[in-house]
Amino acid sequence: MTVLVTGGAGFIGSNFIFHQLEAHPEDRIVCLDKLTYAGNLSTLQSVMDHPSFRFVKADICDREAVDRLFEEEHPDIVVNFAAESHVDRSIENPGIFLETNIMGTAALMDACRKFGVTRFHQVSTDEVYGDLPLDRPDLLFTETTPLHTSSPYSSSKAGADLLVMAYYRTYHLPCTISRCSNNYGPYQFPEKLIPLMIANALNDKPLPVYGEGKNVRDWLYVEDHCKAIDLIIRKGRVGEVYNIGGHNEMANIDIVRLICRELGKPESLITYVGDRKGHDLRYAIDPAKIHGELGWLPETMFADGIRKTIRWYLDHKSWWEEIISGEYQTYYERMYGNR
Ligand code: NAD
Ligand code: DAU
Repeated sequence: MTVLVTGGAGFIGSNFIFHQLEAHPEDRIVCLDKLTYAGNLSTLQSVMDHPSFRFVKADICDREAVDRLFEEEHPDIVVNFAAESHVDRSIENPGIFLETNIMGTAALMDACRKFGVTRFHQVSTDEVYGDLPLDRPDLLFTETTPLHTSSPYSSSKAGADLLVMAYYRTYHLPCTISRCSNNYGPYQFPEKLIPLMIANALNDKPLPVYGEGKNVRDWLYVEDHCKAIDLIIRKGRVGEVYNIGGHNEMANIDIVRLICRELGKPESLITYVGDRKGHDLRYAIDPAKIHGELGWLPETMFADGIRKTIRWYLDHKSWWEEIISGEYQTYYERMYGNR
């Protein structure tokens, strides 16, 4: 079987490729990635020469390139990770989010219709449900929670989800969607909360916490997300949405304090900065459906996962130091300079 993984040079896509090559050595994996600022070929270095792996640099919005690849590879399963993924960047510049996240998904699904696949899987996010109040711990997102987005990023992901369901109903394209909570782990781009705080703390730089740091996210170790997607593409029911999350809610400030403790850095590095516009208060996933239907449960406890993650960033300094020494500096200044 051939599995086409789009966005595989990014954080979750690369972890998914590593997992697939190990868990399913009989399958061929083709990665299509545009290599935007968030895609990094060095991440895939260890598998570039793997006999069951092929990397292709292309844009999912480029229909000719996508069709060409489908003609060559005839993928059985397509897993779409390719996206603009950072909320703050979407607030600055929504256009590219609509282009990649919605139009790109449409281009991929049209190729799937033209060439035929057994599954198109859309990697979506819990952010499509909007947010939950901080004082109602009893409320969780289920698959039937209405879509109610806050940012251009989450709106573009919700738009893509609606399109996926439309392709399922109208064209009977065999689709599934997963909506996962916040991931953490190796190879996450240092614009996101956990790697940004680790990198800044290691460089004794201020740790910029938005607002009062009370916003809550539901953290899941990336490998657990990859295992959930693997189950869905092989055993999940077409036309279904599956929520993925680890019942691991934490306030941002508690994560930042934990990172300070683990790295032996003073909490005086913590700096409260202006809040994100439209900042979602709380995300919390009810994973009962994927647990009940597919037997999935998170395997990595947060206490272990965060230690493994910090260890990984300590052991792979050259990977993130190269990133933060380039264009990232301009981004950082723009985003945090006058905050
Ligand atoms: P990421 O930003 O680390 O990686 C995105 C990858 O997509 C990069 O390699 C980039 O080069 C590639 N890409 C971007 N535009 C492209 C295009 N037009 N054509 C081809 N490739 C393109 O993102 P991530 O955190 O790994 O997220 C992957 C997916 O998972 C996204 O769809 C995101 O919405 C979803 N998701 C992320 C999280 C999370 O916590 N990070 C949680 C739930 C869902
Ligand atoms: O919930 C899933 C989503 O999780 C994914 O769909 C997104 O692709 C992914 O980026 C992530 O979105 P968040 O906005 O939750 O993640 P981020 O790491 O940007 O921020 C996490 C929280 O930390 C959020 O409340 C904002 C806050 N934050 C973030 C940064 C970068 C800070 O306080 N300071 C920061 O510098």
